Amino acid sequence: MKHIVLFASGSGSNVENIVRHFQDNRNVTVAGVLTNKRDAKVVDRCNYLNISCLYFNKTAFYSTDCVLGILKSLNPDLIVLAGFLWKMPKKIIDHFPMKIINIHPALLPKYGGKGMYGSHVHQAVKHNGEIETGITIHYVNENYDEGAIILQEKTKVHPNDSVDAIAEKVHELEYEHFPKAISKLLNI
Ligand code: GAR
Repeated sequence: MKHIVLFASGSGSNVENIVRHFQDNRNVTVAGVLTNKRDAKVVDRCNYLNISCLYFNKTAFYSTDCVLGILKSLNPDLIVLAGFLWKMPKKIIDHFPMKIINIHPALLPKYGGKGMYGSHVHQAVKHNGEIETGITIHYVNENYDEGAIILQEKTKVHPNDSVDAIAEKVHELEYEHFPKAISKLLNI
């Protein structure tokens, strides 16, 4: 049995999609969800999905070994950042080499880095008149959105697509490809 741990900061629609994708799979279990936002929608989702959701604050994350300790006890085969917006501390990255992945809602290296997340990315894509956008799944290193790329998938952007329409297309790619990428990395 493989264990995955998810990190999220927001709505958690990717968390829900991943949990539902693997819920009948005997080879993998979602060992828990960790969030840095006590009032994020992901917390409600975990409640109705019946998945443990642990909240931590900045001090616990960056100045203590609390989150590292939780992760060690959950013993994950893969740590998945699904809309998680804080930088991973070095000690966590060092403890789980090549075991932490992130999804980014654009074709990195474009539209990556601090401040580039969620709808900010789609607004910039629209503003710049891009004709395509997409998703990037990559390993996590100490810099935002810079770890080795695992996969990218593209979608077309039409001139009359709204920011919301772009976001929806990107979310569709995420829902289709993120669980598949996790399965592949876990060899299941
Ligand atoms: C997703 O689109 C994900 O790619 C993005 O946040 C969204 C979370 O949506 N991640 C980043 O921007 C990371 N830089 P969700 O909470 O509905 O899953």
